[in-house]
Amino acid sequence: MNGGEPLFMALAKGRLAEDALALISNAGYDVGGVDLNGRKLVYDSGGVRYIFVKPADVPTYVEHGIADIGVSGKDTLLEENRRLYEALDLGFGRCRLVVAGPPGMAGRLGDNDLRIATKYPNIAADYFYRQKGRKVEIIRLNGSVELGPLVGLADFIVDIVETGSTLIENGLAVLEEICPSSARLVVNRASMKLEHERIAPLIERMKPLVNENKP
Ligand code: PRP
Repeated sequence: MNGGEPLFMALAKGRLAEDALALISNAGYDVGGVDLNGRKLVYDSGGVRYIFVKPADVPTYVEHGIADIGVSGKDTLLEENRRLYEALDLGFGRCRLVVAGPPGMAGRLGDNDLRIATKYPNIAADYFYRQKGRKVEIIRLNGSVELGPLVGLADFIVDIVETGSTLIENGLAVLEEICPSSARLVVNRASMKLEHERIAPLIERMKPLVNENKP
């Protein structure tokens, strides 16, 4: 695509990776050779250097300018609260951030001394403080958060819900919705200016493609 330094893009293997690569490919960038099933962390293809990081780390790499651009869920962006430019809603990876728990327990959400299990400690603490005027005890987990209320570790969870099947299969229900989420194209603030000639066309080529994704 160009003869100089590649653009650096941070992607995460996981729920957003396939859709992200398909979009980049449809926008006219050669992603041949990028293997989402491999263990390699760096790939060069079509003038872009792809670095694969953990989902929660995409905003970190972009904020620090290691990556010029990245694809991250809005849920992760809200939790990480990094200084970066959110350029585009990519329309895939749609899910909802919710408070969930045993069905019928919504009336207890304003109680004192609640314990909330979550991968999103900042979002959870902020939600209960703003919406309920309560400081809650946050129990930080790294996955399988739905187990929390089942085994008595927590009263409720704050988590993302996509199909809803994990909640249903574990006898839990959405009690309150915090906000919707979807994948976003994020850009390092300095790169937005310094690499404008290469980043702006990428955004422009993606725009009509992601609009088609919108409901
Ligand atoms: C996420 C989330 C829920 C589940 C929701 O977990 O934390 O557990 O997906 O999806 P659903 O509504 O379609 O069932 P993930 O699959 O990322 O795994 P994890 O629990 O290991 O974090």
